[in-house]
Amino acid sequence: MLTMNSDQGAQAQKQNERQCPFGAGADPAFPPPRRNPTDPPPYYAELRESGKLAKARLWDGSEAWLITCYDDFRAVLGDRRFSADISRPGYPTVNAGMKEARGSYPSFITMDAPRHTQHRRMLTGEFAVKRMEAYRPRIVQIVNELIDAMERRGGPLDLVEHLALPIPSLAICELLGVPYEDHDFFQEQAKVMASHNTSVEQAKAASHALCEGYLRSLIRKKRADPQDDILSRLVVNQLCAGHLSEDELVSLSRLLLIAGHETTANMTAMGSLLLLQHREQWELLREDPGLLPQAVEEILRFLDPTHSGRRRVALEDVELRGETIRAGEGVIALSLSANRDQAAFPEPDTFDIRREARHHVAFGYGVHQCLGQPLARIELQTVFSELIRRLPGLRLAVGKETLRFKDEMFIYGIKELPVEW
Ligand code: HEM
Repeated sequence: MLTMNSDQGAQAQKQNERQCPFGAGADPAFPPPRRNPTDPPPYYAELRESGKLAKARLWDGSEAWLITCYDDFRAVLGDRRFSADISRPGYPTVNAGMKEARGSYPSFITMDAPRHTQHRRMLTGEFAVKRMEAYRPRIVQIVNELIDAMERRGGPLDLVEHLALPIPSLAICELLGVPYEDHDFFQEQAKVMASHNTSVEQAKAASHALCEGYLRSLIRKKRADPQDDILSRLVVNQLCAGHLSEDELVSLSRLLLIAGHETTANMTAMGSLLLLQHREQWELLREDPGLLPQAVEEILRFLDPTHSGRRRVALEDVELRGETIRAGEGVIALSLSANRDQAAFPEPDTFDIRREARHHVAFGYGVHQCLGQPLARIELQTVFSELIRRLPGLRLAVGKETLRFKDEMFIYGIKELPVEW
C-alpha cells in the first residue's frame, strides 16, 4: 500500500483544494467564495491559468466539470452534444428546490430541440430588437417617474427598492399583462425559488402558489377576455390554437415573469455601485453620453450576475483540454469567468467603459442565449443615462464595508444600496 509522508500529504491536500474548493469536508455550497463583490471568485482565474479542466462537488454529492475559459464556454454552449434538459440523469441542478421547481413546471430554458425551438419561436417576435426599440420611450418614462419619486422623497434611500427592482418589474408586468400591484407576491415567490438555501418543501410551496394560485387563474382570465399583451397573445395564438397546453403556458409565463426582473435589477444596482466606485468613468459618461451603449456592455461583461453558471449534461463523450467529459456527466459553464479571460479581453480585470466588450457572454451563448437581451439592454442604457443626467452628484450613503451581497441567490447582486445626492 502506498503511504504519504506529511509533506506529500500536505502537497496532495493543497492540490486537491486547488482542484476542488468544495471538496470533502468543505461547505458544498456552489459557487466558491469571492474576495471582492465586483469580481468573480479568484479560483476561476487559477483554473483558467492552469489550462486544465476541474470538477466541483455539488450540493447532492455529485460532481460537474467547470468551464472557465472563453473559447471553451462558447464551444460547450454551441455544441448539441450538451443538453439543457433538466430531466436527464446527470443534469447538475443548483439545489433540490430548483430540481423540484423546474422539474414540475418545465420551460424552454431547460429543454432541447425540437421543443425548445418551438416554444422559443412563439416569443422571438415579442422580444425582437425592433419591438423593444418601439417600447424604449415607455422605459424612459418609467425610469423618470421613479427618479421623480426619489427626488420628492429625498435621500438617503435604497436604490434597489426605489429604482433597480421597480424598472424591470414594471416593464415585464406591462409587456406580459400581469397586474403590477401583485408584484410583492410574485417577487417573494421568485426569491424563494432562486435561493441556494431553499428546501424542497419551500420550493414546492412557492412554485405552487405562483403557478397554480396565480398564473393559472390569470391565464384563464385572459382566455375569457384577451387584451393587448404577450400573455393574451400566447393564449389566443398558441393555447387556443392547440400549440401549447395550459400547463405549458403556465410554465412559460413563470419563466418570463422571473427571468425578466432579478437579472436586470441586480445588474442595475451592481452597475450603479461599480460606476460610483469608478467615479472617473461616471464623469466620462456625464461628459459623453454617446458612450452609454458600450458602457453597458462593459458593465455586463465585468459584473455578469449569473454566478451559478449555465448548466448542461453531456449526451456523448466529449474531449476537452485533454479530458474526456463522459456521456451523462454534468457541466457548469461559467460566463463570469469567460468574461474575465485574458484571451478574449485584454487586461480583463480592468473596468473600462471605453473598451469594445460586446462579444461578452453575460447573456449566454448558442441556442439558449438570452431572449430578453434587447429589453435588458434598453433598461440598463436608460437607467444609467437618466441617473447620471438627473442625479450627477449621486453617492453612497453608507460605508462600502456595510453593504451586503446575495451570495446565496442563483443571481448575484446587492441586497440594499443606500444612496444620497
Ligand atoms: C441583464 C439582464 C439579463 C441577463 C444577464 C440575462 C442572462 C441570461 C442568460 C445567461 C441566459 C442563458 C441561459 C442558458 O443558457 O441556460 C438567459 C436566458 C433567458 N433569458 Fe435572460 N438575462 C437578462 C434579462 C432578461 C430579460 C429582461 C428577459 C425577459 C423576459 C429574459 C428572458 C430570458 C429567457 C426567456 C431565457 C431563456 C432562453 C432560452 O432558453 O432559449 N432575460 N438570460
